[in-house]
Amino acid sequence: MKIISSIDELRDQLRGQLRTAFVPTMGNLHEGHLSLMRLARRHGDPVVASIFVNRLQFGPNEDFDKYPRTFHDDVAKLEKEGVYVLFAPTEKDMYPEPQEYRVRPPDGLGNTLEGEFRPGFFDGVCTVVTKLFSCVQPRVAVFGKKDYQQLMIVRNMARQFALPTEIIGAETFRADDGLALSSRNGYLSSEERQEAPVLYQQLNAVATAMRSGNRDPQAVERAAMEHLAARGWQPDYVSIRKQMDLKAPSAADLDAGSPLVVLAAAKLGKTRLIDNLEI
Ligand code: PAJ
Repeated sequence: MKIISSIDELRDQLRGQLRTAFVPTMGNLHEGHLSLMRLARRHGDPVVASIFVNRLQFGPNEDFDKYPRTFHDDVAKLEKEGVYVLFAPTEKDMYPEPQEYRVRPPDGLGNTLEGEFRPGFFDGVCTVVTKLFSCVQPRVAVFGKKDYQQLMIVRNMARQFALPTEIIGAETFRADDGLALSSRNGYLSSEERQEAPVLYQQLNAVATAMRSGNRDPQAVERAAMEHLAARGWQPDYVSIRKQMDLKAPSAADLDAGSPLVVLAAAKLGKTRLIDNLEI
């Protein structure tokens, strides 16, 4: 595997490649990330991964400084997956001058759910993904459903800008007890780690209620939030949305059987976890 930090060198290395499959990450790689590398391999060749902890998508009081950086271990894992190039720019490589041009998703999609609780987050994501795509020029790029709203925003962005990159969604990789793997799980104490699967259990409870014909999504959301709060969580949201556009379903949507997804974010101690489940 070639490890490249400069954009010019990356361009030289990938020149003429027409079937590149790309997996952008922020490192601290776990099986969820590696499942994306495997999916990428099925959709293209060579597979290119990136590791870049993107300051633009972190709020001033978020965990940019303490975000886990495990470069050495990450490299070993990617080697094993047969990744051809790891693009690992420094901040100077990626942002040699202040990044003043930004890509901003539309308000309806960018300011709701994660965007409501993390203002500017999706501007940071869209800006770095656009720039990474410009560097790698992939034919396909793989994103996890774990970050459901991110996947949808990137997919819509690629479509509206007619980017030559097809966006592929990968299923969420979970531990045996249901907890979605995440780099932030490492922040959990062992007690919190035992409690953490309750988030996914509540998503399942919501899905079961909706599948069995409950017609009051807000009451179902409230019940899940209250359950989490009673166990000591601080929920930001539990929200039932339409898969198509992440808008809240109307009565007519429920009648029509529109595909739904329940998304949640909640803090357990100091750690903020997100998860979702398609209904
Ligand atoms: P990061 O959190 O490192 O995630 C990189 C990719 O791995 C994302 O597409 C994410 O959805 C996926 N992923 C994480 N955990 C997963 C799991 N348990 N199962 C399946 N996929 C999983 O998301 C980012 O980085 C950044 O926002 C990025 C897109 C790289 C832009 O900076």
